[in-house]
Amino acid sequence: MWSPFGKNKPGSKPVVGSGVGPAPATDAPLAIGLPQASEAVNKAVAGGCQLDLTARVSPLVRVNHQMRGTKLSARYGEFLQNSKPAQMQVVEQLVPLLTVPRRPSAAERWAEQQDNEAAARALLREVPPNEWGYFMPLAPGLGTLGAVGSLTVPQATSRWRSLYRLNFIMDGVSQLVGGRLDGLSLLDIACNWGAFAIEAALRGAQEVDGFDIRTQNIERARRLSGYFGTEANTRFSVADVYEFQPQRTYDIVLNLGLMYHITKPYELVRATHALCKHMAVFDTVVHREPFSGFILGTGEHAPEHAATATGCELHPTYRALIELAYLAGFKEVIELQGEPDPAWAGFKTDPYGVGQRRCIVAFK
Ligand SMILES: C[S@@+](CC[C@H](N)C(=O)[O-])C[C@H]1O[C@@H](n2cnc3c(N)ncnc32)[C@H](O)[C@@H]1O
Repeated sequence: MWSPFGKNKPGSKPVVGSGVGPAPATDAPLAIGLPQASEAVNKAVAGGCQLDLTARVSPLVRVNHQMRGTKLSARYGEFLQNSKPAQMQVVEQLVPLLTVPRRPSAAERWAEQQDNEAAARALLREVPPNEWGYFMPLAPGLGTLGAVGSLTVPQATSRWRSLYRLNFIMDGVSQLVGGRLDGLSLLDIACNWGAFAIEAALRGAQEVDGFDIRTQNIERARRLSGYFGTEANTRFSVADVYEFQPQRTYDIVLNLGLMYHITKPYELVRATHALCKHMAVFDTVVHREPFSGFILGTGEHAPEHAATATGCELHPTYRALIELAYLAGFKEVIELQGEPDPAWAGFKTDPYGVGQRRCIVAFK
């Protein structure tokens, strides 16, 4: 009986059995399993075909070499760890970098100035803190995740990151058009519950459309927009980005937090380009390998963010993100980053802090 633990020699005539098993800890030859195809393969071997079950595995990746899908992130983690000496994880900078100063977002300023604790608490009774994925300021000391003083560690991290993103992306976009978004149209693709769309309206954007594939997110976006008093300038709808064809274009298109949850990256960037008049913003997880490519992910960390339950995502490298923007027809690309609050101790290890999450602006 063939064993998955590497006892068979290539060229022998094995009976193929279950090949699922851990990779060996030793340097013994590795073997490849064919559990599903064993009957057919044995027929082929009986018919004179040669079968070689010896695996050749890169020394950079030994975790679960059997290619059975579920250990993708462990394998990738091992690759990253082992490729450190080759300096493959340098944070490259290939386009102009604009650093946006740290200033409170329009939503933060609005929430601080209103005497609206009762309304905020009423909203949190309708949609309790554990049902909002991210932090959005609602009233002094109070946000969608609850009272700022009593957040758990993951919630506090979410708060820092949410405030950081909301400020540097939307202030950056506003500064690129002269300081405010007055009179402009903006589309927020995969808007979730509308934080960025609402922030755009608070910054003066006149027509703000947001859509998301999940009905529940859009219901919350409408509620939150009502809370911030931006209903007159915001419209939210349920749609799949690959089918969204509004017969119009927008001055600014936001494509935030989506590029690493999908399987058709080129089509997504093309669709973003088609919807945009002036500029598009892409904020995404990126990988640091110095080539234009995609890392296959299974979306196990945030299944509620993927388009469907396919359990398959293509995560771009930093270079792929930039190249895709050019290939889709954008003429110029720059990058935005923020200045983190010095009190955010976790920034150093946050994806934004280590160059694994980046934000580019692509001009048409
Ligand atoms: C990580 S969240 C990002 C939310 C928001 N844009 C942000 O950056 O904070 C990903 C969002 O994409 C939505 N989504 C996933 N696939 C989509 C698709 N094909 N069309 C529209 N929305 C989609 C999810 O429902 C989810 O709200």
